[in-house]
Amino acid sequence: MSGFSNFQINIMHTSKRLEGIGEYYFSQKLREIDELNKQGKNVINLGIGSPDLPPHPDVIKTLQEESAKPNVHGYQSYKGSPILRKAISDWYKTWYKVDLNADTEILPLIGSKEGIMHICMTYLNEGDKALVPNPGYPTYRSAVKLAGGECVDYDLKEENDWEPDFDQLEKLVAGVKIMWINYPQMPTGQLPTKALFEKIVAFGKKHNILICHDNPYSFILNDNPLSLLHVPGAKDTAIELNSLSKSHNMAGWRVGALCGAKERIDEVLRFKSNMDSGMFLPMQLAAAKALQLPESWYNEVNSVYKKRQQRAFELLDLLECAYDKNQAGMFVWAKVPAGYKTGYELSDEVLYNTAVFITPGGIFGNAGDGYIRVSLCSPEEKFAESIKRIKSFLPALKVK
Ligand SMILES: Cc1ncc(COP(=O)(O)O)c(C=O)c1O
Repeated sequence: MSGFSNFQINIMHTSKRLEGIGEYYFSQKLREIDELNKQGKNVINLGIGSPDLPPHPDVIKTLQEESAKPNVHGYQSYKGSPILRKAISDWYKTWYKVDLNADTEILPLIGSKEGIMHICMTYLNEGDKALVPNPGYPTYRSAVKLAGGECVDYDLKEENDWEPDFDQLEKLVAGVKIMWINYPQMPTGQLPTKALFEKIVAFGKKHNILICHDNPYSFILNDNPLSLLHVPGAKDTAIELNSLSKSHNMAGWRVGALCGAKERIDEVLRFKSNMDSGMFLPMQLAAAKALQLPESWYNEVNSVYKKRQQRAFELLDLLECAYDKNQAGMFVWAKVPAGYKTGYELSDEVLYNTAVFITPGGIFGNAGDGYIRVSLCSPEEKFAESIKRIKSFLPALKVK
């Protein structure tokens, strides 16, 4: 007998690297929302940033036609299809005015989230430090920790237009190997300026820090997409992640890319090629199609987000939250009114009274504690219904 019985589960100790890595906030919250839905609450989820709109029909058609072919089902090159790399290179030239060698300076990825992990695993040794934005996308923090690195928070503050404070950064650089940045910034929606990007590149060069720019939102509610790699000499110190998840409504497809100097691409490929294999070829060809879409594609997507953004402003006005109207990306970031200690408090109050879920800003780091984030990934009707519910429950809410 093995010692196992039907009533006993073997004890397994998880790896040390998982210590301090909790379940992702959203996965816990979605379980709670499921429970509320089972009780008949019909929760409207204005939390998660997964585009609800479909990709362009030509993209779907390419996937369908290519996948019907008999000879496209084998393993693919670790470096991705040359057709996709060329499409990424042309896209960077067209939209960001950045030259990238399609053979050596581009690595297609299964989304930029995958790239964040690869970069940390490629460059961080046990105890190496990585600068991470607070508030910022939680994956930077968890990927650094999983790779054995140590996170050094740098603050982004509203009074500083959510830009890093370079005086603070100078004090934090000892032992730092990589720095995560992300503009348009998630969750604050802050747009980058060329001057900011120049300062960041100069900072990376001065301290020999690898600047890792995560750039998935540059086409959403933004007429002027910028790449960090546009700064002269940026490739000497910086790499950039990009993604089709938001710009092309392809979050579930998992297509992104790492762009940078040949040396960096080769280094990250050494790790990635041991982790996974190339993406399904028809998907790569469909992604190439998406990258060739004309300007009208981005305009159409943005006209939908613009209308939803107005509705989100209305909802936030009801809650007496303060926000900047000039935000990019698929969220609205807003300060909670006096009377609430944190965004968690307001988020829970709205959820339990009105069955509308809004993300508390604190999940992006304690610098986001006083804020909430509304996702624009729901149809206008959902916003209208949320507004109706909040209006009818206003007397029960603390703001009134
Ligand atoms: C700042 C940021 N980076 C990366 C990602 C992940 O994008 P992808 O779908 O390309 O993995 C997200 C997704 O929400 C994000 O908000």
